[in-house]
Amino acid sequence: MSLHTVVVLAAGEGTRMKSTTPKVLHTVAGRSLLGHVLHAVSALNPAHTRVVVGSGREKVEAHIAEIAPGVTTVFQEHRGGTGHATQLALAGTTPTGTILVLAGDTPMLTGESLADLVEGHTSGGFTATVLTAEHPEPTGYGRIVRGDDGSLLRIVEEKDADEFEKAIEEINSGVYVFDALKLAGAIGKLRNDNAQGELYLTDVIEILRNEGGKIAAVCIDDFTEILGVNDRVQLAESAALLRDRINDGLMRSGVTIVDPTTTWVDSTAVISQDVTLLPGTTIAGSTTVASGATIGPRTTLIDCTVAAGADVKESYAISASIGANASVGPFTYLRPGTELAADTRAGAFVEMKNAKVGEGSKVPHLSYVGDATIGEGTNIGAATIFVNYDGVNKHQTVIGDHVRVGSDSMLVAPITIGDGAYTAAGSVITEDVPAGAMGVGRAKQRNVLGWVLRKRPGTKSAEAAASAPSNDQEG
Ligand code: UD1
Ligand code: CA
Repeated sequence: MSLHTVVVLAAGEGTRMKSTTPKVLHTVAGRSLLGHVLHAVSALNPAHTRVVVGSGREKVEAHIAEIAPGVTTVFQEHRGGTGHATQLALAGTTPTGTILVLAGDTPMLTGESLADLVEGHTSGGFTATVLTAEHPEPTGYGRIVRGDDGSLLRIVEEKDADEFEKAIEEINSGVYVFDALKLAGAIGKLRNDNAQGELYLTDVIEILRNEGGKIAAVCIDDFTEILGVNDRVQLAESAALLRDRINDGLMRSGVTIVDPTTTWVDSTAVISQDVTLLPGTTIAGSTTVASGATIGPRTTLIDCTVAAGADVKESYAISASIGANASVGPFTYLRPGTELAADTRAGAFVEMKNAKVGEGSKVPHLSYVGDATIGEGTNIGAATIFVNYDGVNKHQTVIGDHVRVGSDSMLVAPITIGDGAYTAAGSVITEDVPAGAMGVGRAKQRNVLGWVLRKRPGTKSAEAAASAPSNDQEG
């Protein structure tokens, strides 16, 4: 099977989205609508892919340059219909081989179905093949009109259809395969004498048939694959369908998903066998999760790497790397540049950014760790703040191996704490602490004896103090 050209029609205004973002750039399951179509198409390895752009041209072109640099665009200035858009896509090219035409707003289509369609078209020696579907609610779609022998006669648009034609449930998916040379001949013969005054690509079917072309109409098994997105209700519907498809695939490959309806995994994420996803979990972007890890409940991972056996619960992480058997959460925020080595811990109410945490080290509670390198086997006491920002610049903190940072420490960067050093709880550490030293940076405590009885007489505190067994309150 070889495919010469793919034409993606994506110039429409997408008015019903009511959005400043062009329709095909709206995303579901981690890709734009157009991104899904281009991804499916890439499985066919076409020599050329052309996208017809119009509305929101600059944004769409910039997006294509980013996600599919080999794909070219063709500009359609005014909406002239799908036939007009296809004319523009073919203009100035030498028609060769087989060509696939489809719309840019059908994110559910799979590369497999497209490959089957092209394969059937080529092996059957057809002039044109139309992908159709039995649709429970055909209103709005073009209808497939077949002759008594079952062969495809023509496609009638909803707005041009009579009562009998409107009753047909088999619809045109808007996906076609053509003999490029024959298409190039027929496309110039389109006329706009229809309800919308447009050049309909669908009309080439009747033209090719009248010229003796061999036409196939192939009905897809799963009609959800051809669903298009025209408004935000359909956007949410296709997102849910894609979620179910992705989750089904993951579960069949050995991933446990406790509640598939609240688990959202982008099509770009990679989840290994024996991972467990707990309810309310979102795994987005280029995230990879290795075997044996448990993610969730209520956890979001964006562009993260999670190694085998890690446990991440009730947390939010973006562009972070979580080592093997590391434990994160509950309620942990890992920002870009966080690198947790194996067997580390980032506990409750801990935020990290640009921080490398060495093997076996722990930041168990209530801390901010920013712009830091922490060695191995180190413990950062509860409520430690890495004071990395002087109001103008960010500074680094370097902490060695097997360090014990006391609770409620302020580590004012730039600062270095040597291997095996300790800091006293409640210290503001502003100078380097050498290896093996105890850094103390706090006022010495003094007790003002009898203060409560003198200054707060008659209070419950004074009463309690007076009856305390071992305290000589009078000093
Ligand atoms: C089209 C088909 C219809 C089919 C349906 C499937 C025609 C005449 N009708 O109808 O039979 O059931 O798709 O979803 O083809 N576009 C352009 N330039 C244009 C017009 C459209 O690029 O001038 C693009 C749109 O951006 C869209 C695609 O072509 O991606 C289809 O256009 P749309 O207006 O959505 O066609 P439908 O009315 O849905
Ligand atoms: Ca449409």
